[in-house]
Amino acid sequence: MRRVVSIGGATFICLLVAIGNSSAFAGASAQPYWAWAFNGPATGLPQKPPPPVEALPLSDPAKHTLPGSQMSFTAAEVANVNRYWPVDWFPEDHPMPVPDVVAHGKESEGIFPCAVCHRLNGNGRPENSAVTGLSYEYFMQQLMDFRNDLRQTSDPRKTNTAKMASFVKALSIEELKAAAAYYTAISAKLWIKVVETETVPKTFNRNDTWIVVKGADAGVEPLGRRIIETPVSDEADLWKDPRSGFIAYVPRGSVKKGESLVKSGITNGKSKITPCTVCHGDDLRGLGPVPRLAGLSASYVARQLYDMQNGNRAGPWSVLMAPVLSELDEEDLLTASAYLASLAP
Ligand code: HEC
Ligand code: HEC
Repeated sequence: MRRVVSIGGATFICLLVAIGNSSAFAGASAQPYWAWAFNGPATGLPQKPPPPVEALPLSDPAKHTLPGSQMSFTAAEVANVNRYWPVDWFPEDHPMPVPDVVAHGKESEGIFPCAVCHRLNGNGRPENSAVTGLSYEYFMQQLMDFRNDLRQTSDPRKTNTAKMASFVKALSIEELKAAAAYYTAISAKLWIKVVETETVPKTFNRNDTWIVVKGADAGVEPLGRRIIETPVSDEADLWKDPRSGFIAYVPRGSVKKGESLVKSGITNGKSKITPCTVCHGDDLRGLGPVPRLAGLSASYVARQLYDMQNGNRAGPWSVLMAPVLSELDEEDLLTASAYLASLAP
């Protein structure tokens, strides 16, 4: 079957393999559970309670500041229990006045501000996504896909994807356009540090992110064929330091293997797929409306590829990836994600 899919100005011709449903390729890859901060499928058994977490000193009235910030806030302000007023440590980093929908959401309707998850600087976190360095056209298309139930989670234990969808459904197009104009004015920043290793600190899932275990249960464990992304500093993360990024522990050799797959379509010496660079640009920083991949969270990339393979990300543009997706197995998802996270955006 030959299909022409038009994205904005650019037109791609793609050959789609003859398959019943062009948006689902179940079976190509097993689920990389690490990308959802889980170690395996749901067991139905009660989860082991997470280890005690170092909490902010909520009753301390003293103001706290961060290196380089002119602002100061109390721990209670930072913890921001009601969620509608994320603290702004670096107002000078914003490209323009922050739209209301990004900074405050709509408390009366229970709509969180975009910044609660993606942060005011759009760098995001592995459990959501970076929303910087994207074209306006791509950004709006994704919001429409969430609205139309074309982007959903493949693992129902992760609930923030559905939350994001419910918020964009409740907001007006004008509000979404304001958020898109704001975030697309911000260029992508280096945010993930990739480290190849055989062992990792023990971690646990806190709100869909891997957090390093401290205290008596702390230690190391084999990484195996996983990627573990965790804040560079849990302390900075608790204080919501928007300039403190994440570290991705990846298996030894995975970056080089991923580079071969992404740039030449070759894995284990065999030509497998159209190189990702053909559509995402030679430097993987995006091509027209096709999104950048350089410097994205490895967990996010692996989730997106798996979601697309399973028809849970099935927007009108996702179909372009069909011939590639049908070939990628779990190891390819891991190596491609490791390599892409290692690139400067
Ligand atoms: C509850 C947390 C949350 C809030 C609030 C939220 N998002 Fe998201 N957003 C997510 C998650 C999670 C994803 C990734 C989905 C996944 O991995 O399944 C996402 C993905 C996106 C993407 C896709 C990025 C890409 O590269 O394709 C865009 C764009 C986006 N969000 C914009 C927004 C905007 C604009 C707002 C405010 C109107 C917003 N989000 C509010 C959690 C949130
Ligand atoms: C034929 C063109 C084409 C090829 C080849 C291609 N992609 Fe894509 N890719 C796209 C388009 C178009 C989108 C936007 C999809 C959408 O809107 O859902 C996309 C989206 C993505 C996304 C989601 C990014 C985000 O911000 O959410 C990831 C991850 C991705 N591609 C990875 C890859 C990888 C890895 C390869 C190679 C193994 C690859 N792509 C090859 C066209 C392509």
